[in-house]
Order: sequence, then structure tokens, then C-alpha cells
Amino acid sequence: MHDTIPVILDCDPGTDDAFALLLALASPRIKLLAVTVAGGNVGLDRTLPNALALVALAGAPERPPVPVFAGADRPLLGSFTSEVRVHGVDGLGGVALPPGGAATAEVAADAIRRILRAAARPVTLVGIAPATNLALALATEPPLAAKVERIVLMSGAWAEGNATPAAEFNALNDPEALAIVLACGRPVVLVTLELTAQALCTPARLAALRVADGGRCLRAACDIQATVPLSRRFDGRGAALHDPCAIAWLLRPDLFTARDCAVEVDLGPGPGRGRTLIDRWGRTGRPANVTLAETLDADGFFNLLGEALVRLP
Ligand code: RIB
Ligand code: CA
Repeated sequence: MHDTIPVILDCDPGTDDAFALLLALASPRIKLLAVTVAGGNVGLDRTLPNALALVALAGAPERPPVPVFAGADRPLLGSFTSEVRVHGVDGLGGVALPPGGAATAEVAADAIRRILRAAARPVTLVGIAPATNLALALATEPPLAAKVERIVLMSGAWAEGNATPAAEFNALNDPEALAIVLACGRPVVLVTLELTAQALCTPARLAALRVADGGRCLRAACDIQATVPLSRRFDGRGAALHDPCAIAWLLRPDLFTARDCAVEVDLGPGPGRGRTLIDRWGRTGRPANVTLAETLDADGFFNLLGEALVRLP
């Protein structure tokens, strides 16, 4: 049994992506093989430098640098729709970080395939962005799915969306990509809006994170999160910390409950586009294709976050 989990993290930083990326970098159990970047929350011209800056911010002599790869600046069909109201025009709420290094000169989907091909043991793919990079990698070399341990996605909702009444942001931004990933034949864990709503970052929780004797990374993460509007969906009580929930699943699955169920994606052109039709009660008779994360121990989650990020520089 191995004590580390080899991971490729696909992201679109993104305020909550920042927390997820730093949590992954702070966790010795996660062997972060690569960070791949897509557009989404803001354009790739911002998400890429944001990812590079966050990786550099967490850099330390004892930790080998994690390669960052630029990926899709658009979905398989159409274009991404940014969400600057939540992430700011720069993607990190206007919090200026020291610039990071250069991206590794290889397209994200190629890098994912290369890493999977060479992997000594199966790799976990974590997707916290529109799933375009993951879909391009898996669809263009299907046999490589055998080198994928599992896929953990922050995506979808069984009820109301946050991008449209029907669809969650990542799912809506590339529903075809999500459908490809769901159909790749490897175990998929789905972390939906209903789960992430339980990771509600209230002002009190943010204040508690701040008091920890952390370094520049914890301070930056809190400064970034402090720019995120308190959500109308939660009566202004806080903002859901979506993306780090996907990393937390890997680190502390005991903080979650889950059930297997069938999920399909609405690929139509209408108002339901991007909706994830999540059959929690087996009404369709379709075989389960995801493990749906349903409940979260929120206090345990925020403790995990604070205890991890305080370890970073
Ligand atoms: O709906 C939330 C998801 O969309 C998160 O991944 C957030 O970063 C945005 O990308
Ligand atoms: Ca994201």
C-alpha cells in the first residue's frame, strides 16, 4: 500500500481554486505530478499566471517544483463564460501575488497523456475547472484510462445551478467534456454544489483561518477569499469553498458520506444545457457511474484547511 497519492490537478484559478491548489501543495500525502490550467473563471491569460504564482508562492527548497501546463482557452464547443463577479477580473480578487515562473512548454492534454503513459502506478485526476483538458486527454487516447486510478470532479448539482438555474459553472462551461469524462470507464467522484454548500466560508471561519500562525500562503489565501462576495444563495452568510472539497476527499474521505448513482449531462442547446441529471434514488434504472459526495463534516474540513495551509511558507 502506498502512502502517497499521485495526482494531476486541473484548475482555473479562481479564488476557490487557489485554496485547493495550496491545500494540495501543503499535503505530503499528495504527490502533485502536474498542475494543468484551463480558462473558466477568467481567461487562460489570467488563470495560467495565477496558477504559476500560487505554485511559486508555496515553493520551498525541500519541495520539488510542480510543473504547470497551459491548456484549453475554450471548451470543446463555443467559448468559456467568465465569472468575474466572484473571482474579479484577474481571477484572484485583485490580490497581487509575486509572479511565478514559466509554464512548461507542453499542452496540458499532451502532458496528462505523457504522465499517464509513464506512470508507475495509476494516477488520480482532480478536475476543479471546466473538464476540457481532462476530456481532450482521455478522448484522444482512451486506453490511457487504465492508468487513471480515479477522477474527482468539482462539478454539477442535483438541484439548482449557480451559473444558470439548471447548471453549475464547470458543467455549463463544457458539458460535452464532462460527459466524456463521466463515460471514460474509470471511477468518478462527483463533488457537487450541494456538497460544497456545506463548506460555507463565513466571516467567522475566515477569521479563524487568519489567526493561525501561517505564512504568506495562508495570508494570501485568506486575502483572496476575503474578496469573494457573501453569496445570496446563503443569505449573505458566507461563500461556498467549492474546489478544496475535491482535494479534501482525497485526504480525509472520512469527512464525507457518499452514494453511488447514475449521472448524465444535458447537452442540449436549451435552458437546461449543462445540467447534471443525478439519479440519487435510482429512478432511471441506469447503472451508477459516479460516487456522489453528499455530506461534509464542515468543521473537520476547515480544520484540515487551516492545519495544512499553516504548514506552507
Ligand atoms: O461552481 C463552482 C466551480 O466553478 C468552481 O470550480 C469555481 O472555481 C468555478 O470554476
Ligand atoms: Ca475552479
